[in-house]
Parts: sequence; C-alpha cells; structure tokens
Amino acid sequence: MTIPSPYLLEALIIRKVFDDFVALDDVSLKLARGSFHALLGENGAGKSTLVKCIMGYYHPDGGNILLDNKEVSINNPRDAHNLGIGMVYQHFTLIPNMTVAENLILARPHLPAMIDWKSELAELETRMATMPFKVPLQSNINTLSAGEKQKVEIIKQLLLDSRLLILDEPTSVLTPNEADEVLGQIKGMVDDNGLSVLIITHKFREVTGFADEVTVLRRGKYVGSCKVAGTETKTMAAMMMGSEVIAEPLARAETKQNETLLEIDQLSAESSSGETAIESLSLNVRAGEIVGIAGVSGNGQRELVEVLAGQRDIANGSIRLHGETFDATRRQARLHNLHCLPEEPLKNACVPNMSVAENMAFNNFDIPPYALKGLLINRGRIRERARTLITQFKVRTETEDTRIGALSGGNVQRAVLARELSGDIDVLVVANPVFGLDFKAVEEIHNRIMAARNNGTAVLLVSEDLDELLELSDCIHVISGGKLVYQTTPSEADRSVIGQHMAGH
Ligand SMILES: Nc1ncnc2c1ncn2[C@@H]1O[C@H](COP(=O)(O)OP(=O)(O)OP(=O)(O)O)[C@@H](O)[C@H]1O
Ligand SMILES: [Mg+2]
Repeated sequence: MTIPSPYLLEALIIRKVFDDFVALDDVSLKLARGSFHALLGENGAGKSTLVKCIMGYYHPDGGNILLDNKEVSINNPRDAHNLGIGMVYQHFTLIPNMTVAENLILARPHLPAMIDWKSELAELETRMATMPFKVPLQSNINTLSAGEKQKVEIIKQLLLDSRLLILDEPTSVLTPNEADEVLGQIKGMVDDNGLSVLIITHKFREVTGFADEVTVLRRGKYVGSCKVAGTETKTMAAMMMGSEVIAEPLARAETKQNETLLEIDQLSAESSSGETAIESLSLNVRAGEIVGIAGVSGNGQRELVEVLAGQRDIANGSIRLHGETFDATRRQARLHNLHCLPEEPLKNACVPNMSVAENMAFNNFDIPPYALKGLLINRGRIRERARTLITQFKVRTETEDTRIGALSGGNVQRAVLARELSGDIDVLVVANPVFGLDFKAVEEIHNRIMAARNNGTAVLLVSEDLDELLELSDCIHVISGGKLVYQTTPSEADRSVIGQHMAGH
C-alpha cells in the first residue's frame, strides 16, 4: 500500500536561466495539501519566475513538477488550468474595452461556439452571490481602478474552481481592510473547501495573519521553509535579507510656515468613460509639507494624479505651481520642477520595450547635458546617469541596457522611483509609491520622501495604505466620489472616522 503524499504540489530543483542570467538556481518548493503557503523574498529574488514555471508560462531549464505525487508536464497555462491550478499574475491580464462580466464569461473554459450572453450573465450573477466580494459587472475594464481590477482577477480564478490558487502579490493595490477581507475569504475556502493557496506577498501581517507555511528565496536560491506558527517575523526577514541592515525611519524635521507651491482650485475632471471623476476639488500643498490623500481606489485619485501628470484634461478649475497657472505640459513640469509618479508605472510611466537607461531619462533626455543642440542625444551621459541611479536605488537589473519590461515588478517600481525621486524637486506627486516593494525598499523610499519634504519639497502623497499616510503625512484629506470630504492630521486622526469618510458616510 502506498502512503499518499502530504503534498499537493512539489516543484523540485527548478532551474531557469534568461540569456546567461540564472533567475532560479535549483529551487524547490513543497506545498502541503489544503495549506496557505507564502512565498517570500526580496525584489528580484525569483518568486514570480518560480510560479510562472509552475504555471507553464515559462519553460524551466531543469527540474520536475509533481502534482499529487505524480510528475506532470505543464507546457502552458492551459495545461495548468486543466490540472486545477489557477493564477492571478502580478500584472493585469484583463481584456480592456470589455465589461467585467464579459471578461469573466470569456475566461470560462470550454465556452460554446455561440455564447448565450443572457443565460451566461444570469449564471454569473448567481455565482457572484457566493463570491467573497463584489465587482461592478457592467463596468468597462478601462474605467476600473487598479484595486478593482485586482478584485476582478481574483474573482476570475475563483470562478474557475481551481484547487490550487496561485496569487502573485494580490493585495498590492488593495487597502489593508480590503486585503484582510479578500485573504480572509480565501483562507475560509482553504479551511472549508480544501483549496490550497500559494501566495507571494511582501507584507508580514498577511503572512502571520493567514499563512500556514512559508518558503523563502534569495537571489534565485532556495533559503528555507518553515511553519508560520512559532516563527518570528524577524526570523523570516533575516531569511529574506541575509545580514543586510534595514534603514531606520527618518524623522520629520521642523519646517516653517512655507510658501504654497501647489494650488489646486475648484478642479473638475472626467473619467475615461466621460463621467465626473473629480468635482470642484481644492487643495494646497506648501513647501516642506506632505499632504496625504486617503481613499478607496476608484474615487478620483487616479484622475487627479493624471491631471497633474498631464495625462488627462482639466474640465474646470485650475492648477497653479509657484503661483503661476500650470498647463501640465512636459516643459512646464520641468520649469516648475514637478515630478510625478502615477499608479501602475510600467503601464503609465514606462515604455516596457525600451531600456532601463532610456526609461530613466524620460524627464531630461532632450536637454543638456543629455542632449546637445536640441535633439542630438548624448547616450553616453544617459547611460552613465542610469548606472548611478541603479546603484543608488538598488535596482536589480543585468545592465542599464536591459529592457525595463524584463525587470521584476518591484525593480520596475524602483527604476521609476529613481527617475522621479532624484535631484532637487519642488513639487512631488506620488501615487502608491511603495507598490510591490520589499519591506527594506519600503523603508528606503519612505525615507526618501521624508527627506524630500524636510528639504522643502511640496509632496502630494496619494495612497491606499492608511498606515503609510499616517506615518508620512503632515495633513490628510479623504477623497470620496471625486470630492475631498474630510481633513485631519496624523496626530488627531481616528482611523474609524477616516474609514467612515472613505466609505462615503
Ligand atoms: N523575461 C525575463 N527576461 C529576463 N530576465 C528576467 C525575466 N523575468 C525575470 N527576469 C529576471 O529574473 C529575476 C527574478 O525576477 P522575478 O520577477 O522572478 O522576481 P520577484 O522575486 O518576483 O521580484 P518582485 O518582488 O520585484 O516581484 C530578476 O532579476 C529579473 O530581472
Ligand atoms: Mg514578482
């Protein structure tokens, strides 16, 4: 009689090499049946690569994958789905310009040649009642915020009845409350329905709150695995980072009553679908001050940042920088020394097929010393500056000529932060700046934002993470339905009151 293996999935001695870069150096992971297993590691450790090998999205250069103790050959994500493995990727995979319902229905395997949309929709609505959270079925994907899109991605996999659900940083764009709700529901499915989960996360509170076991990778190598119960967070952190030291938080320096650098006056703007996204919003940010904007994603914060970045028209109202009307062109942004980091930077602030160096030079490639006489671009200087930024911001990339789209999620974020957070900045607008960063990089970036403030930068910090806002801001506004509905300071803030305003009460 054979004893059944306690493992649902075993990925054994997996090797993956890109050109001559070893992303996975004989890594193994064993996932017990019915467990909630977290995969940890710093940015660029190889986590996404490992799960993409399991899904058949990448073909490993060595190693075996066993499911229920039997070796399986997974050549593409369809094979994985047929074996009951579903995955939510770090990047979005939804079809733009279609509704949420259409996306969910089209994701169903074995769709008939003729889709009876009416009955499919009715069935979808019935099944949605059993789902852990709601998504706006009739909305166009293009109009959704990052948080909403992420929820749709998770629902899409849950509807497929996978027995192993792989989640690559599913909560990066969710508020901590939303994350708890989503992970709590998924944990319920692990405990009650025998679902197994492999989750990649940078958040220890999610590991200690929900996971049973962890596996840790470092620089493409297997470090170890352990049960969460009985393991301290600092032990896991040490496994992830080795002996590297974590930066201490930078103190908030006293700054004087400084001049107002950014004035937003009665601003209105429309969403991509033509609805009012921001309505008569007024806000000032002074030099040496961080003004935080809290809100559930999808309440106008994305459009606000896009207006400031020159990516969305102003319907009404005005913006002034240094007291002058700002028309949101690149030239004016440079003149006023305004830097902007939108959400989803790979999509909104990068060209994935261009090199890291080129992406880092977007703000200044056409001015001296990076260009001479207009457009004679000095590639040597651009690459030299990129090398400096890569070192300062610890961007893990093979060279400055690597295509930015080949970097790990957290390293793309670092590269864009390096571009937007370096040098003297008068006005800084950042949306979810630590999205996808490992805990060490989070500290470093928070310190850089605080250092900019202490040096006199006016910072507008848009974040879905209340802890981040409470830690960094001098004053916090809540945005709801495109309007600022409440204002407080971190010292006076009451989380539940902020939460009520965020929820629109
Ligand atoms: N398609 C690719 N081509 C070349 N190199 C790649 C490719 N995909 C990943 N890499 C490299 O492999 C390494 C591991 O990347 P991976 O995306 O697995 O990291 P990760 O642990 O998921 O990090 P993060 O926390 O930042 O998401 C990185 O250094 C990355 O640059
Ligand atoms: Mg990753």
